[in-house]
Amino acid sequence: MMQNLNIDLLINLSYIAAAVLFVLGLKKLSSPATARKGNMLSAIGMLIAIVVTLLNEIKLPWENIIAGLIVGALIGAVAARRVEMTGMPELVALFNGFGGASSLLVGLAAVFVAGTSTFTNVTIILSILIGGVTLTGSLIAYGKLSEKMPSKAIQFTGQQVFNIGLVLAILGSSIMFCLQPSAESPWLIAVIGLSLLFGIMITIPIGGADMPVVIALLNSYSGLAACAAGFVLSNNLLIVSGSLVGASGLILTNIMCKAMNRSLSNVLFSGFGATKVSSAKVEGEVKPISAGDAFLILEAAQNVCVVPGYGMAVAQAQHVVRELSDHLEENGCEVQFAIHPVAGRMPGHMNVLLAEANVPYDQLVEMDDINPQMANMDVAIVIGANDVVNPAANEDEGSPLYGMPVINVNQARTVFVLKRSMGSGFSGVDNPLFFGDNTRMLFGDAKESISHIVGEFKG
Ligand code: TAP
Repeated sequence: MMQNLNIDLLINLSYIAAAVLFVLGLKKLSSPATARKGNMLSAIGMLIAIVVTLLNEIKLPWENIIAGLIVGALIGAVAARRVEMTGMPELVALFNGFGGASSLLVGLAAVFVAGTSTFTNVTIILSILIGGVTLTGSLIAYGKLSEKMPSKAIQFTGQQVFNIGLVLAILGSSIMFCLQPSAESPWLIAVIGLSLLFGIMITIPIGGADMPVVIALLNSYSGLAACAAGFVLSNNLLIVSGSLVGASGLILTNIMCKAMNRSLSNVLFSGFGATKVSSAKVEGEVKPISAGDAFLILEAAQNVCVVPGYGMAVAQAQHVVRELSDHLEENGCEVQFAIHPVAGRMPGHMNVLLAEANVPYDQLVEMDDINPQMANMDVAIVIGANDVVNPAANEDEGSPLYGMPVINVNQARTVFVLKRSMGSGFSGVDNPLFFGDNTRMLFGDAKESISHIVGEFKG
């Protein structure tokens, strides 16, 4: 009796330690300077959680557990080593989906073993429902991000009515299951099928530039699904960690909505890009520039602002960008990096790339701080960014981007846009910046173009 009490106490203390490490880890993740440490603290917390849970609750043979751990660790290690920086957002979407799938499976397994109290059945349904929605929603997000399916909004007549019907059907099936809970219940199969369909239905009408909000929201759902699974398993730590992921995902969703000046309901229900058609014609004279001529202008510049975007990740240009910045500074020029919250394809994408290239954190400036300085900027160098510098977001009420805050590079004295073609960005919206009087297009792969300029500085 006494021994059982001690073991329980030890387990709960370990769980509290793990939860504290998760909270500290999250706190440290909020700044690039401490993010690595935060990641490490959370990983240690997770290790404690797994070991204690395995020692305490698992009734499976040890060989099975070890085999599962080895297979899982191998898949994770290979995926992490192989993934390109540009593929990270898709990987995150897939991981969110796997989290949802696990919660769905936990809920399903519990139908066979758990008690029949109404509370247990409600938690089982929630675990299956949120897990199912997260799984298929994340798979659609993966498809859109990897461009394996069109990224634009998919809408059809009667979509809202269909979705309301779907919600009612899910509610009805869930209630029927809770009234007559059994593993053979057809209502259980209905809840699973309908939640999988609902995940698809709520993600397909979201397209173009609104995907950042969806990724953050699905991240939050995966946490809520884990939290529901925690209730099913009566595991306090899963409840705590699920709540932390759910809450931080919601905060991130809010930040993303603010960054795009949209309300959550507007993102979820309006179907970005599906209805609006830009009224302004995007045309004019394109003025290309060579890397050699760009060097001459940069050599004379006193202050330069670099605006990175998704193309910098594609080109893997972050290291040569850092080199260019060093040369400019040696030349007496002040260099700042302007970071838009939704630049790239995942939250913090640009910060991660620039940190990898050891760009000092104090050189990174947020959009709201750089915009007031833009009119005094000698040169703004746009490296593979497009939507986040599109002036139509400020000027063209008909544009699907209208209202989204952007980095106002068009106000700088000279703008260099480094990209390979006149093609549009993720949102598919044309960009009048390319035709601006003060804009020079430096066509080509961003890494090659910048290497060329760096070569001129060295020469
Ligand atoms: P985008 O608007 O997508 O533009 C990227 C540009 O990079 C393209 O126009 C492309 O033009 C250029 N590019 C691609 N490869 C290049 C290379 N090797 N060298 C030089 N340029 C290259 O990027 P952004 O300005 O960063 O905006 C992000 C967009 O993604 C927003 O619409 C945002 O809402 C959306 N999004 C963001 C997230 C998150 S969480 N950040 C998630 C999903 C979606 P060329 O093809 O002509 O080279």
